[in-house]
Amino acid sequence: MEEDYVFKIVVIGDSAVGKTQLLGRFTRDEFFLDSKSTIGIEFQTRTVDIARRRVKAQIWDTAGQERYRAVTTAYYRGALGAVLVYDVTRRRTFDHAARWVDELRAHADKSIVVMLVGNKADLAAGRAVAADEAAAFAEEQGLFFSEASALSGENVERAFLRLLEEIH
Ligand code: GTP
Repeated sequence: MEEDYVFKIVVIGDSAVGKTQLLGRFTRDEFFLDSKSTIGIEFQTRTVDIARRRVKAQIWDTAGQERYRAVTTAYYRGALGAVLVYDVTRRRTFDHAARWVDELRAHADKSIVVMLVGNKADLAAGRAVAADEAAAFAEEQGLFFSEASALSGENVERAFLRLLEEIH
């Protein structure tokens, strides 16, 4: 069946935070522990029903590494939503979230809806960022927030669907 809407979503965040695996979990319910770093840009799609409409989420993934990121303007063009990912076990990836927000403000549409995702929540023993702190940052910046685990699948569906609902 034809979709009613196509929503372009971009996934951003530092290298190895789990962007590609979150996308794989949401679009195909897959996870790979030996995931390779993304080179270039790829997208995957999944169609979901939201408020009785068929919404095709076209979700773009790119490398978090600076050296691959000469792509910004084209990458963000037309994006209605962004998933900004950090790794709850690596403090630096959360500290960099503010920079990713600046990048969105510089290159993306002003009305873009952003979901901050603290990934790898399954690694409880290695936690380096408290959920409360991330929630406070998200509130201050006007972002939605969820912790999640691409490995266990916990909250992945919920975070993506929430983002799509907020765009809708
Ligand atoms: P770049 O392409 O370099 O920007 O990385 P990325 O952000 O796309 O990370 P990727 O999805 O490739 O995952 C990086 C590593 O983290 C891989 O070894 C994954 O298996 C692992 N990983 C991803 N998500 C999770 C998770 O939820 N829990 C755990 N324990 N490991 C994860």
